[in-house]
Amino acid sequence: MTQSRLDLAFPDGHPGGEVLFIGATAADDLSPLDPQHLQVVQGHFPDHQGLSTRGFRVATAADGRFDHAIVRLPRAKAAARARIAEAVRHLTPGGQLWIDGQKTDGVDALLKELRGFAPVAEVISKAHGKIFRVDVPVQDWLPDGWAATAHDVAPGFTTLPGVFSADGVDPGSRMLADHLPPKLPTRVVDLGAGWGWLSAQILARPGVTELHLVEADHAAVESARRNVSDPRAQFHWADARDFRLRDPVNGVVMNPPFHEGRQADPRLGAAFIATAARLLTGAGRLWMVANRHLPYETVLAEHFGQVHEIGGDTRFKVIEATAAGKGNARKDRR
Ligand SMILES: C[S@@+](CC[C@H](N)C(=O)[O-])C[C@H]1O[C@@H](n2cnc3c(N)ncnc32)[C@H](O)[C@@H]1O
Repeated sequence: MTQSRLDLAFPDGHPGGEVLFIGATAADDLSPLDPQHLQVVQGHFPDHQGLSTRGFRVATAADGRFDHAIVRLPRAKAAARARIAEAVRHLTPGGQLWIDGQKTDGVDALLKELRGFAPVAEVISKAHGKIFRVDVPVQDWLPDGWAATAHDVAPGFTTLPGVFSADGVDPGSRMLADHLPPKLPTRVVDLGAGWGWLSAQILARPGVTELHLVEADHAAVESARRNVSDPRAQFHWADARDFRLRDPVNGVVMNPPFHEGRQADPRLGAAFIATAARLLTGAGRLWMVANRHLPYETVLAEHFGQVHEIGGDTRFKVIEATAAGKGNARKDRR
């Protein structure tokens, strides 16, 4: 899909000079571009790793000056604006800005909005989306407030545009926190820790001596670092699906994701459950929250000996699970 629009925007291949691509994913075919003259900005760990493995120069923030910038639109409008502001900041005078996005990610509205500030050319529609070029004016032209800035999200917490639940505490996480036992085990992992609210609730319980926050979104990890200043917290920008620690832990707390982009994908949550089982000691406990309709019972039973629903409502279920009673629990973790 992306390849088809890149091919149309750059029919003669690499446009010449240095190119910045903010938001390219590991699944993209970037063959029209020359990897020697391309920097990709990608903060989602699995995509970052995937692109890096394919030999691309990948960073979590743009670095340097570029003759062309391509911005892939994310879902959140504020995050899209922040990517555009970052691209413009790193363009050489006279540089070209390209915007690529799906209709479902608001490309049409953004095209209309940008036309109010700058000349737009070469609008190419394909595969339920558009790519178009903005002839960037030399003077400052983007409205104030487009650049990514941390904003208050809950008392004592800030976050950045595009991060999960950037408008407030997730109700599922709140329900999970309400059902955690008064005392928690010593070594705990928060898988998919976001901007750190749930982690802060874990650290507020007595008993915890070490908490590992594991999160794939770089902006979320950076927000969590600012929000959770407790010295017991250790931050891991990582893919929870293959996350490992040298020593097992005795507690995992998680509100796993169930979307890959726009697609609901319960396999993501199932992989988080497998990781939780692998990280825990035989007597360790998992506490998790999930949307009620998500079919996690089978994968929970595969990895844990005892699984109990300890709370919930029509929307969410809160589950406590332990490997205890499962004969092959140790074998499963290897
Ligand atoms: C439902 S949210 C919960 C966030 C946080 N615990 C909270 O309470 O607000 C799930 C989190 O998992 C993160 N995530 C998605 N895929 C991931 C992966 N493969 N590895 C680690 N984290 C991931 C998302 O970025 C998101 O922050």
